Parts: sequence; C-alpha cells; structure tokens
Amino acid sequence: MKRLTLMLPLFALILAAPVQAEDVLAKHKCNTCHDAKAKKLGPTYKDLAAKVTEADVKNALQKGVKGKWGKAAMPPQPKAVADASALYKAIAAYK
Ligand code: HEC
Repeated sequence: MKRLTLMLPLFALILAAPVQAEDVLAKHKCNTCHDAKAKKLGPTYKDLAAKVTEADVKNALQKGVKGKWGKAAMPPQPKAVADASALYKAIAAYK
C-alpha cells in the first residue's frame, strides 16, 4: 500500500506532461493563429514542428516573422520570449 502511495504522484506527473506542453501554447494565445492541424492565419503546429528550430521560435517571438510561410505576418510576442524553450518543445511534440 505504501508503495502505491509513492507511485501515484509519479503517474500524475507522467500524465500531466503533455497537457502542460499544450498549456504553454494556450497561455500565450498562440492558438489564436495556430492550430494542431487546421490552417488558421499561421502555419499548423505540425508543419512548424517539421521545419523550425528552437532559434527560429525564439526569433519569431522576439522580432516576429513575415514572408516565410505565406502572406500573413506574425507580430512579435515579447511576453512569450521567456518561455521560448517550452514553446519550442510544445511545437516539436506535434511531429
Ligand atoms: C496574430 C497571429 C499569430 C499569433 C498570436 C502567433 N503567431 Fe506564430 N505565426 C503567425 C503567422 C502568420 C506566421 C507565418 C509568418 C510567415 O509567413 O513568415 C507565424 C509563424 C510562426 C513560426 C515560424 C517561424 C519561422 O521562422 O519559420 C513559429 C515558430 C510561430 N509562429 C510560433 C508561434 C508561437 C509559439 C506563438 C505564441 C507565443 C505564436 N506563433 C503566435 C501568426 C501568429
């Protein structure tokens, strides 16, 4: 029984991990323009996952991007820069 009580928090951690990855995208409102598979104003997470590096993500957040994927531009997301690494991992999970 004691062992089970020790294991439970571990399971909770494992289950919570993917949810947290999506949360960081929701938290910074990336989902307004990006979606897992449906094309919105910006490219899908699946397309992004296939092409972008962590440096691309950071650059897009700091300076914005335009002309790389289509006609629409992405404005800089200064509040999200601190979470660039977590955002990159969340996007890369769509591969
Ligand atoms: C106002 C709409 C909008 C929001 C909000 C937005 N994006 Fe974008 N994003 C775009 C568009 C449009 C493009 C394509 C720009 C282009 O063609 O160069 C893009 C491109 C990107 C790219 C590709 C960069 C590259 O170098 O190829 C990444 C990565 C990205 N977005 C991540 C994010 C993340 C993470 C967030 C949330 C913090 C976010 N975006 C929020 C519209 C948005």
